[in-house]
Amino acid sequence: MDQTHSAPKVLVTGGAGYIGSHAVLELLAAGYRVVVLDNLSNSSAESLRRVTELTGKPAPLVVGDIRDRGLVTDLLAREQVQAVIHFAGLKAVGESVEQPLAYYDNNVNGTIILLECLAAAGVRALVFSSSATVYGDPQQVPVPVDAPLGPTNPYGQTKAMIEQILGDLAISDPRWALGILRYFNPVGAHPSGRIGEDPRGIPNNLMPYVSQVAVGRLAELAVFGGDYPTPDGTGVRDYIHVVDLARGHVAALARVLARPGKFTVNLGTGRGHSVLEIAHAFEKASGRRVPYRVVGRRPGDIAQCYADASSARQLLDWQAELGLAAMCADAWRWQSDNPQGYGEAS
Ligand code: NAD
Ligand code: UFG
Repeated sequence: MDQTHSAPKVLVTGGAGYIGSHAVLELLAAGYRVVVLDNLSNSSAESLRRVTELTGKPAPLVVGDIRDRGLVTDLLAREQVQAVIHFAGLKAVGESVEQPLAYYDNNVNGTIILLECLAAAGVRALVFSSSATVYGDPQQVPVPVDAPLGPTNPYGQTKAMIEQILGDLAISDPRWALGILRYFNPVGAHPSGRIGEDPRGIPNNLMPYVSQVAVGRLAELAVFGGDYPTPDGTGVRDYIHVVDLARGHVAALARVLARPGKFTVNLGTGRGHSVLEIAHAFEKASGRRVPYRVVGRRPGDIAQCYADASSARQLLDWQAELGLAAMCADAWRWQSDNPQGYGEAS
């Protein structure tokens, strides 16, 4: 795509966050213009400064909330975007159980307000960050995109509700172009080591936890359950490199810009890896030890979940290219080059 002012401009909500910042980088590399709206509740503006450093292109940030109707309306009037990639949301499963109203308000209400502002501005192309968590405990693996939904926590409920809202919206007005992307387990970082995942406090998720053990910030990995019906007894997930995931958004954007209608795809590699496989692959990539201890299962966890990603191949001509070795090597480069995340820079 050319670099002139005729290149489409995209609003990226939550674009300062982990996946959003990688997507902004890939969008800029593909020739799109961007404007980011992020309230920085779980991120730092430093991520976007580094995206500009890496791409040599502007990644302007508006600090604000998707629930701020006036701000979103003004932004849309000023920026004249053709499409939106909607990452903004709260994403911690445990926190969602403790604070359900905050999750329903931020994720569901926030999305409704954003959609109302978009409709009023005549912007009807949107790509939405959903999650494999909408499947709950899947009845079959690999999980087909038409598998029944059954989220088991308020966070997952918000994703399923938003999917429902987008489905009803598409029926109400066929001009909408809506892409629903169900991510499996995003991990890794940009290969430059300049941007990556920067969780606040002690990480909930496996890969950032393992990274912090390898770098010496945490003592050992607690493996949640060694008695699952999986090859080595530990949980199996479909880990997907965040750069592959970001490229999936570029493909989804091209589709919503090209044609109306709604589509839903799984974004995963189609391969499952166990907790112990991750710990061992990370040791290999980092040259550090990852001491671990098997403890009891984490409440709410499932044995295994990996994607049937054939719908993404068919609809988006996209498939994951990067394997576990690259995921661990890139996560390690980010962690070892930035042991405090964006902490010192932001
Ligand atoms: P993240 O927390 O790093 O990014 C989300 C961003 O949204 C943050 O920068 C945060 O400050 C911003 N934000 C939150 N609420 C906002 C609001 N009301 N207004 C404006 N900005 C707001 O998380 P991430 O891992 O990059 O996830 C991005 C999206 O992908 C989320 O919607 C998440 O639910 C979804 N998702 C993530 C995963 C995962 O494992 N990381 C898996 C499946 C789906
Ligand atoms: N695990 C450990 N120890 C840890 C952390 C995780 O053994 O300290 C295990 C879990 O039990 C699980 C696997 O590592 O078997 C992966 O756990 P994560 O927390 O990294 O990921 P989940 O699959 O549990 O959940 C993630 C996101 C959810 C999202 C879901 C599906 O946290 O938000 O993927 O996309 F919904």
